[in-house]
Amino acid sequence: MVKSKVWTPKRKFDGKVQTSDFHLVEEEVSDDLKDGEYLIEALHWTVDPYMRTREVGNVERNQCMPGEQIANMTAYFGFLELCQPKEGDTVLVNGAAGAVGSLVGQIAKIKGCKVVGCAGTEDKCKWLKELGFDEVFNYKKVDLSEALKTAAPDGYDCFFDNIGADFTSTALKHMKLFGRVSICGQISMYNDKEPPRGVYPFMDILAKQLKVEGFIVLRWYPRWAEGEKDMAQWIREGKIKYKETIYKGFENMPTAFVGLFDGANTGKAIISS
Ligand SMILES: NC(=O)c1ccc[n+]([C@@H]2O[C@H](COP(=O)([O-])OP(=O)(O)OC[C@H]3O[C@@H](n4cnc5c(N)ncnc54)[C@H](OP(=O)(O)O)[C@@H]3O)[C@@H](O)[C@H]2O)c1
Repeated sequence: MVKSKVWTPKRKFDGKVQTSDFHLVEEEVSDDLKDGEYLIEALHWTVDPYMRTREVGNVERNQCMPGEQIANMTAYFGFLELCQPKEGDTVLVNGAAGAVGSLVGQIAKIKGCKVVGCAGTEDKCKWLKELGFDEVFNYKKVDLSEALKTAAPDGYDCFFDNIGADFTSTALKHMKLFGRVSICGQISMYNDKEPPRGVYPFMDILAKQLKVEGFIVLRWYPRWAEGEKDMAQWIREGKIKYKETIYKGFENMPTAFVGLFDGANTGKAIISS
């Protein structure tokens, strides 16, 4: 037998997730392998915002938190397929210094777009400029509507939304006619106890004849190899750069997870053994 460690939610989360919401459980895994079986030692783990929405069933079944491999396909398919960017388009991406957002902005540059991005610290904004974003702003320090107007006075053709709620309803007012909006995430709402009230974006969607579509990246699973090929090529060519915020030690997984909601990570949050 070998010992395996598992982070398990103690209870249903109540509002903002806390490190104290988890406990570490040890399990025994048989190392008496049968033909065709193999035993894997994980060296790196991912934490992702969606995990905030998945604890309920796991608490009921006393199961561990979900988690997968670390990969980049959300930005590739969610942006290219739903926003259909064309050369010369103006693209808005929020959560731009995160794992997904930083890739969306760079893919948009590869496609010949003007890219406007925002993030929650000056350091993150500086990094976005280094990545080639044309206009950046710290959304915590500005009037959002004014900043969006200043960055792109003629409006936006594409909007890749990681944040949701008030940001989304403000941004939709700055879309161009027939703009395309990819709804990737709603991180500003994952900790909410009640759905927000008063966000009614449909008038803007109607008046500007916007195409607004949500997605779950697994939709494109059969085409994964296509995305991996392009992304690997762009990384090799130096057209895509990435940052990782690495937390050392499996015991720091809850800290890394909670940090996603405080903006503690730049690029991908990873836990390494
Ligand atoms: N649809 C799909 O299939 C799919 C797949 C993967 C991810 N997603 C979604 O994509 C989004 C980004 O995921 P990621 O893995 O790349 O995470 P991430 O952006 O690397 O990390 C989260 C970042 O979001 C920002 N943030 C946190 N709370 C916020 C709030 N209340 N308002 C504004 N910004 C906030 C913080 O950056 P700042 O310092 O800039 O605030 C934080 O660093 C998430 O919404 C996630 O759920 C969707």
